[in-house]
Amino acid sequence: MSGKSATLILDNKSHEFPVYEGSTGPDVIDISKLYAQTGAFTYDPGFTSTASCASTITYIDGDAGILRYRGYPIDQVAEGGDFLDCCYLLLYGELPTAAQKADFDTRVTRHTMVHEQMSRFFTGFRRDAHPMSIMVASVGAMAAFYHDSTDISDPMAREIASIRMIAKVPTLAAMAFKYHIGQPFVYPKNDLDYASNFLRMCFAVPCEDYVVNPVFSRALDRIFTLHADHEQNASTSTVRLAGSSGANPFACIAAGIACLWGPAHGGANEAALKMLEEIGSADRIPEFVNRAKDKNDPFRLMGFGHRVYKNYDPRAKIMQQTSREVLAELGKKNDPLLEVAVELEKVALQDEYFVERKLYPNIDFYSGITLRAMGFPTSMFTVLFSVARTVGWIAQWKEMIEDPDQRIGRPRQLYRGEVEREYIPTTKRG
Ligand code: SDX
Repeated sequence: MSGKSATLILDNKSHEFPVYEGSTGPDVIDISKLYAQTGAFTYDPGFTSTASCASTITYIDGDAGILRYRGYPIDQVAEGGDFLDCCYLLLYGELPTAAQKADFDTRVTRHTMVHEQMSRFFTGFRRDAHPMSIMVASVGAMAAFYHDSTDISDPMAREIASIRMIAKVPTLAAMAFKYHIGQPFVYPKNDLDYASNFLRMCFAVPCEDYVVNPVFSRALDRIFTLHADHEQNASTSTVRLAGSSGANPFACIAAGIACLWGPAHGGANEAALKMLEEIGSADRIPEFVNRAKDKNDPFRLMGFGHRVYKNYDPRAKIMQQTSREVLAELGKKNDPLLEVAVELEKVALQDEYFVERKLYPNIDFYSGITLRAMGFPTSMFTVLFSVARTVGWIAQWKEMIEDPDQRIGRPRQLYRGEVEREYIPTTKRG
């Protein structure tokens, strides 16, 4: 509590509301009693000025381009350890000791296999089903296989469900990819690290040995860390809202995957690469920049802009560096799409329209180039985002469940429909 308060005057009546200070970042005005005191609701479509919860997990300062996981700057988390270090930090709040990390790695590794019946679940899909449709279905279906970790009131069940999802979502993602391309599923191998295991499950075939490229596995591990959590974004808010009803954790994460699929959110990496392919060469950039600025044209620069970042997305900088490392490993001094992306960024950041609206590249602008270079089809880009974001969704879900203030989320509305009117019997409707 800050001792500060905010005064609202409505219909010539003055109302006081408490103001709370965070450890950093904007203060919040507690309006939970607004309706009881004034009979009015707040109105904030898109929640541009609404804090939905108190959290200690991730902090973003959009104006300064700052992103911290449990207080650690994203570039230090991405470079200082591996993705499972990051998972431990997001889940438990502190960086693991060597012994804690070894135990956590073992627990995750030993849960990477899925129930064998799940492999038959996939055969119901058409081969050309988008892998995200399979992810929404198969992660939700986990509730049908792991009944012993769906009781959200039991801390042990919450813990095992968390480990199971961090461990099994990559396996399901790789199975969705293999099913999509008509290749046999590849089982996880316990002597591989998280990212290497995922690469092998995606790209190994029974006919020959698969050797993981360490540059690719390090790049993918870093990509997972960059995408792991991001405060109260749309899909995390979806997970929290679903969890507030007491739904089981597998259903909540499936809801988050469904929301992430949208092109305005996690689907932007797939859309950004398709946009770069459509632009094709630097000489066509002005045409597309003009379209993005044209109010009558629904086209937007995918991978550009952000609700919170009004500065460069710190993750985009690391993503651009990672794409260069992967391309160099492939002996591609330059990828035509990377050249288009770098030139597009330069042109846009010198254009008044983008400068005025503080539109910068976000994490999705460069991630597609990197993932395509590693051999993933565009249809897998958002699937990889959901693999990485699973730990963030789970950490936020657990925090919500364990928050004494948490109640079922139930927003109200500004009603603009018909007021009461007489019902017209069918015989009199003309
Ligand atoms: C992610 O929330 C998160 O944290 C998400 C995420 C995470 O890690 O979870 O960071 C991941 O989803 C990143 C964002 C990926 N989406 C895209 O790259 C899609 C393209 N971007 C836009 O659709 C848009 O920028 C959003 C959706 C990201 C943000 O939308 P806002 O905050 O609602 O902003 P807005 O639509 O109100 O735009 C403000 C102005 C508008 O122009 P005016 O009406 O003021 O004239 O900027 C324009 C918009 O038209 N604008 C763009 C633009 N983005 C915004 N114009 C052209 N190209 C764009 N990309």
